[in-house]
Amino acid sequence: MGHFLALFVLLLTAVACHSASQNVTAVSCTISKYNADHIKNAQKECSEIIIDGIIVPYGVSLDLTGLQPGTKVIFQGTTVWQYTEWEGPLIKIKGTNVEITGADNHVLDGRGALWWDGLGGNGGKVKPKFLRVTVTNSVVRNLYIKNAPKNAVSVNGCIDSVIEYITVDDKDGDKNKGGHNTDAFNVNSCNNITIQHCTVYNQDDCMAMNSGQNTYFLNNYCSGGHGISIGSVGGGSEVKGVFVDGCQIVDSDNGIRIKTKYGETGSVSDITYQNIVLKNIHKYGIIMQGDYGSKEGVPTGGVPISHVTLKNISGTVDKGGANIYILVENASDWHFSDINVTGGEKKVSCKGIPAGTGVSC
Ligand SMILES: *[C@@H]1O[C@H](CO)[C@@H](O)[C@H](O)[C@H]1NC(C)=O
Ligand SMILES: *[C@@H]1O[C@H](CO)[C@@H](O)[C@H](O)[C@H]1NC(C)=O
Ligand SMILES: *[C@@H]1O[C@H](CO)[C@@H](O)[C@H](O)[C@H]1NC(C)=O
Ligand SMILES: *[C@@H]1O[C@H](CO)[C@@H](O)[C@H](O)[C@H]1NC(C)=O
Repeated sequence: MGHFLALFVLLLTAVACHSASQNVTAVSCTISKYNADHIKNAQKECSEIIIDGIIVPYGVSLDLTGLQPGTKVIFQGTTVWQYTEWEGPLIKIKGTNVEITGADNHVLDGRGALWWDGLGGNGGKVKPKFLRVTVTNSVVRNLYIKNAPKNAVSVNGCIDSVIEYITVDDKDGDKNKGGHNTDAFNVNSCNNITIQHCTVYNQDDCMAMNSGQNTYFLNNYCSGGHGISIGSVGGGSEVKGVFVDGCQIVDSDNGIRIKTKYGETGSVSDITYQNIVLKNIHKYGIIMQGDYGSKEGVPTGGVPISHVTLKNISGTVDKGGANIYILVENASDWHFSDINVTGGEKKVSCKGIPAGTGVSC
């Protein structure tokens, strides 16, 4: 036993000396078999943690919430989770000044088909959310997330961080009973986060922003889902400062969407969508609705939507859809320009568009 410990310390020291010029405590550790204690200890002792194709047992999160500042986590190979019905998340990550990334050809495979029953979070099997990220001053990049049972990435309480080059590939969920509520990015209670250069194939929102400030959603590609959404906002939540630029939304139910909840309170303000291309949108190219959750088509004004700019939005909606649908109350200071969304022939009547917006439907 004494020998074993001595050897262990020696190995650590060797690594530490080797990279002494960068960081005296730099230690790289590889986890190639699931063991909760090893994963916990690695977060105390290692500045680089390689998660190498492990199988995570059913009903537990791969828990990376103890990361020390400066840690780099690298996923390599194929990581999978054993099946059970539970809420998840399959992975949780928390840290300040951390970098989370994936090696070439790695896959985080949620094996969603084991859960998919077409009901998502509304019934049937209890499905785990996939990844929950709570980081400050950090970067999450190059992850390949495949077949999320339900929501893919919950971006919760993040500050001053960048999430980029993430692929959410739930294409398989288009078949049979399939994926439902497979939102790619759910953003809550964050300030100053950038989500960019991501590629999403799913069956629900590409982004759903429910609360928080200063979100930048840039140069992302969204296919198969419900569009780039703010909301549904209610319950006193505030969304302030969302900047969406340079995104493509294809084969999706909606393009640009803001939804606020009927009869509730909160606010949505300082929103810009610009340089967006839509293609084959099935229901609504641009939709802003203040009646979400009610079936009456009556918007309420407790969640006012103010200071909204839509600029240079172009593309096509299917014949059976509507190009623009707006049904709001208490909205103010909207400015739409260079909107060229065509093809939808569904007749809708709009309500509540602030004077001077520069759009009608
Ligand atoms: C926002 O976060 C980025 C890092 O992602 C940082 O460089 C920038 O300074 C932050 N902005 C503010 C206003 O704090
Ligand atoms: C409008 O948006 C498209 C797509 O992002 C972009 O290629 C084009 O340059 C933009 N036009 C202007 C005038 O900014
Ligand atoms: C409109 O929003 C304001 C807050 O900006 C709120 O005080 C007011 O009650 C709202 N009006 C309606 C009709 O809901
Ligand atoms: C609007 O888009 C259609 C096709 O999507 C295109 O044919 C047309 O030229 C565009 N109009 C303007 C003013 O850019």
